[in-house]
Amino acid sequence: MTIHLKTPDDFAKMRVVGKLAAEVLEMIGPHVQPGITTGELDRICHDYIVNTQKAIPAPLNYNGFPKSICTSVNHVICHGIPSAEKVLKVGDIVNVDVTLIKDGFHGDTSKMFGVGEIPDHAKRLIRVSQECLYKAIALVKPGATLGDIGHVIQQHGEAHNYSIVREYCGHGIGRIFHEEPQVLHYGAPGTGLRLVAGMAFTIEPMLNAGTRYTKLSSKDGWTVTTKDRRLSAQWEHTMGITENGCEVFTKRSDETL
Ligand code: MF3
Ligand code: CO
Ligand code: CO
Repeated sequence: MTIHLKTPDDFAKMRVVGKLAAEVLEMIGPHVQPGITTGELDRICHDYIVNTQKAIPAPLNYNGFPKSICTSVNHVICHGIPSAEKVLKVGDIVNVDVTLIKDGFHGDTSKMFGVGEIPDHAKRLIRVSQECLYKAIALVKPGATLGDIGHVIQQHGEAHNYSIVREYCGHGIGRIFHEEPQVLHYGAPGTGLRLVAGMAFTIEPMLNAGTRYTKLSSKDGWTVTTKDRRLSAQWEHTMGITENGCEVFTKRSDETL
């Protein structure tokens, strides 16, 4: 198992691409409205990334993925494919997941949006899943373990009667989109890899309102849904481990991390 430790110069590049990725999510927010299609959200993001930011949308053609972002609506957990047929309607919740490449390095981040007014139970799922990410980030520093991170996410999610998806996880990131280590969103404190300065990875918890079980679409080979078709929510950041904590490269201006 090879963990690619990053140099200060690598972190400088990840800071740049992370900020660009965060800015895509800030840019797309006002467009997430009833009546827009996820295909249109993809086109807007693609054009912004390529023409304005002069960056590369990493998902496009990644293992054959056909679009530039992932859009995962309601019971879709992750890897939803944007489509001209998928019209957003009032009350939907959608995860927009963007990954950019700039100067050879990746920045990967996602957030949830409500479409118009959404039900209180959906707001709560979205809030708790974001709290899971923030509680995990608060623990990231040299000497902590990956089990500490997984544990706090599992603990907080399950305390609210949500389940944690196990088949998909966070990942090391840098010149490679998905590299070691795997960052599980469940686990036991003090177990697993011990963090050291220079590591870079994502944390991207997926919480389900019902059971944790997932189903991969046999039609498109990408779309992952909840088996029980109840709601799922996810938030993601890319970070680098520093001497005394971590730097969240994909932090948005509305966040105080
Ligand atoms: N952005 C996703 C992640 O967080 C990966 C998407 S891969 C794709 O790791 F091919 F579906 F785009
Ligand atoms: Co990721
Ligand atoms: Co992502």
